Amino acid sequence: MSAESQAIVDSDNPKHIAIIMDGNGRWAQKRLMPRIMGHHAGVKAVRKIVEYCAKSNIEVLSLFAFSSENWRRPKDEVNLLMELFMATLQSEVNKLDKNNIRLKIIGDKTAFSDKLQEKIRAAEQQTENNTGLTLVIAANYGGRWDITQAVQKIVAAIASGEIEQQAISEELINQYLVTADLPEPDLFIRSGGEERISNFLLWQLAYTEFYFTEALWPDFDQQLLEQAVISFKSRQRRFGHTGEQMIAIKR
Ligand code: IPE
Ligand code: IPE
Ligand code: MG
Repeated sequence: MSAESQAIVDSDNPKHIAIIMDGNGRWAQKRLMPRIMGHHAGVKAVRKIVEYCAKSNIEVLSLFAFSSENWRRPKDEVNLLMELFMATLQSEVNKLDKNNIRLKIIGDKTAFSDKLQEKIRAAEQQTENNTGLTLVIAANYGGRWDITQAVQKIVAAIASGEIEQQAISEELINQYLVTADLPEPDLFIRSGGEERISNFLLWQLAYTEFYFTEALWPDFDQQLLEQAVISFKSRQRRFGHTGEQMIAIKR
């Protein structure tokens, strides 16, 4: 096996890795380039990480590409990001499909142009029966938006008599989130040095292990991902139990 094709296939691996890909702008600015060049370099890093996760039998990789707050950026940057999103979707979907990767876009898609919404629908449809890695791209996503849209749907379902108020439970709420069909993230990574959630998967990250790296996203690579996974594997997840209980459960 060549070094290129080696990957982390291991039963202790995180099933679901969620990443805030931060630092594109600073990566470009450090090189006296316009911020958009950092986003282009960021797409290259995405390709490599997706490839690596697919080879490593990771079940789900969720990438935060555009937050519901990113509309606050200068109009030019927002427009260029939308163009890049559309172009990337177009150029990558066949490759994803060939590699048995299922693509899922989460977020408030109604804010996107009709053309982009159509491209998203087509790409999801083309890859929906793939059984390898599920690649989740969070675009115009916000954790608060996700919880809000779930509440709206639950209230509507109660009003129409479809469900009863007493049926509201954590499991039910989970079913109305846009991540309903996915396992909860095991490992959360944020590049770019900031240590915050920035409104990513708020509900879903309740028991996720956090890992922060100073590396700017375009510099994020297989080695850095491996370091994060090694750190993840060195931790004891207790979910409220004692350490001793967890050792007994593992046996
Ligand atoms: C993350 O990189 C990508 C998006 C938010 C679209 P940034 O653009 O936030 O990069 P920095 O934080 O300014 O360096
Ligand atoms: C979070 O990064 C969103 C994405 C990476 C898409 P930001 O750069 O927008 O986060 P803040 O504004 O620094 O919290
Ligand atoms: Mg940023």
